Amino acid sequence: MSGRQQQYLRAMGIPVWVERAAAPMPVDAVEVSEVGNEDWDSLRREVSACQRCGLHAGRTQTVFGVGSERAQLLVVGEAPGAEEDRRGEPFVGRAGQLLTAMLKAIDLPRGEVYIANVLKCRPPNNRDPDPIEAETCTPYLQRQIDLLQPKLILAVGRIAGQWLTGTSLPLGKLRLGSYTYGKGNVPLLVTYHPAYLLRSPGQKRLAWEDLKRVRALLDAQS
Ligand code: URA
Repeated sequence: MSGRQQQYLRAMGIPVWVERAAAPMPVDAVEVSEVGNEDWDSLRREVSACQRCGLHAGRTQTVFGVGSERAQLLVVGEAPGAEEDRRGEPFVGRAGQLLTAMLKAIDLPRGEVYIANVLKCRPPNNRDPDPIEAETCTPYLQRQIDLLQPKLILAVGRIAGQWLTGTSLPLGKLRLGSYTYGKGNVPLLVTYHPAYLLRSPGQKRLAWEDLKRVRALLDAQS
């Protein structure tokens, strides 16, 4: 059975029995617990030991999330890149520096928001997350949202935007919409990924419109 097939079966909750010699790790030794009522520390520990999908094999470390646990705004990106995998913190590369500047432009110091990704591990060669990986990792993000209870989620980029809205709309459409996310129906907006803005600086003008919407929505709720 291919690794991919095994991942699909595991994500669907179907036990997979693999000959030890062929298995990349002892499958019966993997502890599978439900994510649901952890506090921040136990959730952080659980994520750091996670082996629920194949990405654990290639990571330097997990990238849990960073910021204030009292944040009103949660920013969600796609997945850690090389720098994030090395440092264990989301959005610390060049795109991260632009994200920090974008937040500052609407009076939100980086330390006052919470920043996380859909995936807590780096996909090899920065490939797009596989839907099964996203599905497997999402309970961690959902628990972070439950603990944080943000007033607003800002998804950055097409991948996070499509995943969190459950649509396959292009970013140009996603950014114009108003959504809610998860059990708690948290308001959700989508904007351009800062890595895209670095490649296409002409779009920063549109991103600025999105950021003003973020500011207005937060102000309207405080
Ligand atoms: N891109 C993302 O989507 N997330 C990061 O943490 C870094 C780059």
